[in-house]
Amino acid sequence: MTSSSPDRTRTTSPSGPPPECPAHAGAGSTDGLARLFGPEAAADPMGMYERLRAEHGPVAPVLLDGDLPAWLVVGYREILEVAGTPGRFSRDSRTWRWFKEGKVPPDSPLLPMIAWQPVCLFLDGAERDRLRTAVTDSLSHFHHQGIRRHIIRFAHQLTDEFSERGKADLVAEYTEQLPMLVLTQLLGMPDEFGPRLVAASRDMVAGTETSVASNEFIVETLADLVRRKRKDLGQDIASWLIEHPSGLTDEEVWNHLRVILIAANETTVNLLKSTLRMVLTDPRCHASLAGGQMVLPDVVEHVLWTEPPLMTIPGRWAAVDTEIGGQKVEAGDMLLLGLAAGNHDPAARPDPSAPLYGNRGHLAFSSGPQECPGQNIGRAIADTGIDTLLARLPDARLSIPETDLRWVSGWMTRHLTSLPVTFTPGPRHFSASDDGAAGTVPGPGAPSDARDAAAPGSGPAADAPLPPVPPYPSAPPPRSRRSWWGSLRAWLRG
Ligand code: HEM
Repeated sequence: MTSSSPDRTRTTSPSGPPPECPAHAGAGSTDGLARLFGPEAAADPMGMYERLRAEHGPVAPVLLDGDLPAWLVVGYREILEVAGTPGRFSRDSRTWRWFKEGKVPPDSPLLPMIAWQPVCLFLDGAERDRLRTAVTDSLSHFHHQGIRRHIIRFAHQLTDEFSERGKADLVAEYTEQLPMLVLTQLLGMPDEFGPRLVAASRDMVAGTETSVASNEFIVETLADLVRRKRKDLGQDIASWLIEHPSGLTDEEVWNHLRVILIAANETTVNLLKSTLRMVLTDPRCHASLAGGQMVLPDVVEHVLWTEPPLMTIPGRWAAVDTEIGGQKVEAGDMLLLGLAAGNHDPAARPDPSAPLYGNRGHLAFSSGPQECPGQNIGRAIADTGIDTLLARLPDARLSIPETDLRWVSGWMTRHLTSLPVTFTPGPRHFSASDDGAAGTVPGPGAPSDARDAAAPGSGPAADAPLPPVPPYPSAPPPRSRRSWWGSLRAWLRG
């Protein structure tokens, strides 16, 4: 424990925490602790993490929404320890003391992230291994070349929407669209579902009265996909989950497809935004990209160190009374992994200005047995998506001063709201008459030889001419309540 505060020193006494310690005393006992949901955190999350590190050391007591106490792990080594020892730090949210004591209100904004569900995210032991193996095996079927082909096609399709205009908002028109379009292909959906899922998820992000309908649309779409894939398997995540020797039920399959969508989309959108901003605004990066000193994958890795798409993740609960980072943690305490703070831990990175090119030692994908299984897909979307965009708009530049860029922070993420650029207008990649053409990557109804031709790694070369995707269909019908999914995404995005 490195705290200089006498009170904090007492909270970390090896003989156990004093009764007034908020992490143990009870919900509502705030004791001047930092609030992860407060205005201070939203205004300057990194500043808050550093203050916590200075005051408490690598593991700091914090307050969540409703002043529910938890521990925020800000030390690099301690994050590895928590993530790497599931026997001490469980994924099972049902063990949280405040759940057991009925202190978490039914409308708590924490629930979307931590309410227990029967998916690998919330399980330990053999059952978790059964489901996690199915997910990791299914994701690892893809070959880089096959994924690149989808990314390039959608990247061109999106760029066509603004290339003749000479200006665009690359957040709304590019980075927020591309990952979901690619993901729907990987999941095994027909093309027309990509734009619909983007529309549905954006609707939920807005937290509107139609968000319940949007959630239902996504669940029904995934459940329907599983039903159809059961009859006609393909080369996609849905089919590989169905076929997996772990023997998932239909409900387990679509629940995990939903987990993949949640885990993959928002994170990859944020990675694309931050990397693109760096490419557009950082002169060293610009110069080195042009000069060949720093390739785009290095920039992506640099961003994963400096602005990880998820700053903080919840999801570990002490399984036993234990000690970490000098703090006495009791069974049932909740721990959050401060991935951004860990990446900036001076104990791990004494010289923050030292080049990080190619160094993959960051915590952006977490670590240990739960480490993100889709990280190479996320990297590929960011890398190839930006590469393709810059090839189309080589002279793109910010159309506002960099200081006018705006971020929105939640307790888990911090992301850009817009990235307006200007560039020399250029021609479309697909001719306008191609719009709505049916000759896209074949969907579930297509003959299996056509599907096989589109299988990852077995399709045309990545630079082969690719057909466009159809225009956006209309959004789902309006309803009135906010959904679990909607709350989750709204919460993730601040
Ligand atoms: C570049 C963007 C991405 C980042 C920064 C990221 C980061 C993370 C993090 C921090 C976790 C939590 C690990 C833990 O609890 O210790 C996670 C879990 C997960 N991610 Fe990613 N992710 C990204 C992209 C993706 C993609 C593209 C996919 C799938 C195609 C994916 C699938 C998953 C899944 C299924 C989990 C849950 C794993 C489990 O609980 O066992 N992620 N990700």
